[in-house]
Amino acid sequence: MTKKSTIEINGKKFDFPILEGTTGPDVIDISKLYASTGNFTIDPGFTSTASCQSSITYIDGDKGECYYRGYPMDELAEKSSYLEIAYLLWNGSLPTKAEWTEYADAIKNHTMVHEQMKNFFNGFRRGSHPMAILTSVVAALSAFYPDSIDVNDLEQRQISARRMIAKVPTLAAMAYKYSIGQPFIYPDNSLDYSENFMQMTFGVPAEKYKVNKVFSKALDKIFILHADHEQNASTSTVRLAASSGVNPFASISTGFTSLWGPLHGGANEAALNMLKEIGDVKKIPEYIKKAKDKSDPFKLMGFGHRVYKNYDPRAKVMQKTCHEVLEDLGRKDDKIMQVALELEKIALQDEYFIEKKLYPNIDFYSGITLNAMGFPSTMFTPLFAVARTAGWIAHWKEMYLDPQNKIGRPRQLYIGEKPRKFIELKNRN
Ligand code: ACO
Repeated sequence: MTKKSTIEINGKKFDFPILEGTTGPDVIDISKLYASTGNFTIDPGFTSTASCQSSITYIDGDKGECYYRGYPMDELAEKSSYLEIAYLLWNGSLPTKAEWTEYADAIKNHTMVHEQMKNFFNGFRRGSHPMAILTSVVAALSAFYPDSIDVNDLEQRQISARRMIAKVPTLAAMAYKYSIGQPFIYPDNSLDYSENFMQMTFGVPAEKYKVNKVFSKALDKIFILHADHEQNASTSTVRLAASSGVNPFASISTGFTSLWGPLHGGANEAALNMLKEIGDVKKIPEYIKKAKDKSDPFKLMGFGHRVYKNYDPRAKVMQKTCHEVLEDLGRKDDKIMQVALELEKIALQDEYFIEKKLYPNIDFYSGITLNAMGFPSTMFTPLFAVARTAGWIAHWKEMYLDPQNKIGRPRQLYIGEKPRKFIELKNRN
């Protein structure tokens, strides 16, 4: 029997169907609410509103679990590779060996960007934030690859998606190289995805770059952990932009813009800065006090999450990866790491954090790890964006395949002036 929900408005009752997903909370379908009652709903920040149906990622916030296409994300981080995850998110299933060879070869074929793009970079000031450059150059891809911008053509959709997976790391590394005044390094297709990203970022033409396997494996895990996270701000932004039918490169560039904010992709940089500022385990109680003080805007960066009301599963993998990287560097007793571990311990025993269900999120340990690997903090969000490109394009594809898809057009509760008479300037005081 179909479940239903009854809403009473001014004494009149209206029934709405309740939809059941594979798992997770049921959803009341209010798409006919306005037509039948003349009312809208309001839910700032979408705290109780599903914006679409999706079969890509499932998060159980209470249990602290996350699944990509049904597979536990922490297991994928240990046993899979980022490129395989990109395939999985896009296709819905893991590749056969033949499918994998075809996909991995195709991505390698697309790693270079149009030579003319270099000139585009030259228009930016040296020292620009790599994210400022990236948001523009990703959108500019539509000018360079006009042969794959027809969103109604299935083959063009696939080519543009593969181009983005392959070229975004190249563009991110170029944005970094440009910002520090070093020459661009071309992709090396003998390397895997993450190794190649490291050589494009840290390599120089004067020397042969030697890949540190512990670092490249850590980076690959970081990419997997950031690959998708269902309807977060940047993914929802991509879906909304794409709902107008705009080309894929322009749609995905909106994800980059949204991700850049400090409450989203920028939090890892803020978390690292906070840990550096604390600097000593002795100063932790002072910062815990500040975080709990309502009159102080300070928050423990890397703590809390809209969906996770338990330990973020990504933070667990991240903490382990962080240990591996520090151990490889011979910095087992790293001071910042000691501050992080102690801060986590104290916060998790504190009544304020327990009551509000505030746990470390992925950003708490990712900043320390990336910093230890040599990435400057300005590259943290670009790295996140490289990884999330796989999620954005998977959602973009899913949106187009959804028969319910229509242009996104939220409504509002208008609280402005009622219609009033315009008085021409000459007649005003
Ligand atoms: N430190 C101290 N108090 C906090 C923190 C924190 N990090 N996070 C939440 N709280 C408190 C809030 O003040 C609020 O208290 P109140 O109920 O007394 O008003 C309560 O916990 C609920 O928090 P909200 O901000 O309402 O929760 P929301 O779901 O809107 O925000 C968010 C989640 C933005 C992640 C928030 O926890 C935060 O700002 N954390 C720090 C930034 C951060 O780490 N962001 C990364 C998120 S993960 C990612 O994007 C990959």
